[in-house]
Amino acid sequence: MSANTISGETGGAARSQSSRSDASALGSNAGQKSEATVAAAPARAAATAAPADPHLPKIRDLIYQTAGIFYPDNKLELLAGRCGRRLDQLKVKNLRDYWIRLNQPTLGREEMVKLLNEITIGETFFFRNQTQLDAMKAVVLPRILAARSTSPIKKLRIWSAGCSTGEEPYSLAMFMLEENSGALKGWTFEIQATDLNERSIEHAKAGVYGAYSVRNVKALYREKYFVAAGSQLEVGPAARKMVTFSRLNFLDTARMELMTNMDLIFCANVLIYFDVNSKRRVIEHFYRNLQPHGYFFLGPSESLYGVNDQFKLVHLPSVTGYVKSRPPGAGR
Ligand SMILES: C[S@@+](CC[C@H](N)C(=O)[O-])C[C@H]1O[C@@H](n2cnc3c(N)ncnc32)[C@H](O)[C@@H]1O
Repeated sequence: MSANTISGETGGAARSQSSRSDASALGSNAGQKSEATVAAAPARAAATAAPADPHLPKIRDLIYQTAGIFYPDNKLELLAGRCGRRLDQLKVKNLRDYWIRLNQPTLGREEMVKLLNEITIGETFFFRNQTQLDAMKAVVLPRILAARSTSPIKKLRIWSAGCSTGEEPYSLAMFMLEENSGALKGWTFEIQATDLNERSIEHAKAGVYGAYSVRNVKALYREKYFVAAGSQLEVGPAARKMVTFSRLNFLDTARMELMTNMDLIFCANVLIYFDVNSKRRVIEHFYRNLQPHGYFFLGPSESLYGVNDQFKLVHLPSVTGYVKSRPPGAGR
């Protein structure tokens, strides 16, 4: 396994949602419960005090097999802390008993879903990748619409893969709705938004966000696409009805094969937690899920170098993307 794994995306400022506390554990966000505070719970302390517990690497390997997320040896203590939360909640006294629980037929599968809720890192915010949206407007949408010009169905299919709490797909929906009066006139679109973390998906469906998440939202978008929800903002019906949320694990081959005929796939800041083998497996799916004229986007600091050579890199204004074959005039 390569070591390109839980070394972590670092968050920016303080976050309010408790589901995001993983990022602080990786040394980023202030204003949250610190590792030290959380570790005060007795069972958690027991788990973190025993990094050499032989069950910890076994749990690590099970997580890797289930979801592709890999904790290298130097992050095992972090994993112990995450497991410690579940130990506390279940009143299970040690990692050995927790390992036994994880291996029970039905209970084990259910427990793994809950453990994955604890360990995934959901750092995100609205309009995080504005340069991607600018490139979409200037180059990508016109190319896709040209390729689809003879298509009888004027509907684009978009996938926000690893959408966390929903800020990315809602931003895409707002951007596309704005384009509806311009380049996208006469077209409609649907956004499938998926994530491994069921708590994040519930948050996304609720659509209510605090100041951290909406800090990049321009006044025009605030007025048009949000409604007040106490001190927070709630996504309004126009953007909401364009997005469908569901839980999906990238390692679930059967479900991945159902995500067909995508015009656009966004998978930003997700595969940084995967080793190269898991990345390869997931990217092969994305390749098949994308239509011949479609575009695939990673996060700004990610690349498919050494992972996949089927996708072709294209240079767009200020960002790069991937296509299945370069359209004429698309550059090198
Ligand atoms: C840092 S967030 C990225 C959110 C958003 N794409 C962005 O860039 O702002 C990474 C997300 O990947 C999800 N994730 C991790 N492993 C996954 C897997 N095996 N299948 C699906 N989603 C996964 C996590 O639950 C988390 O919400």
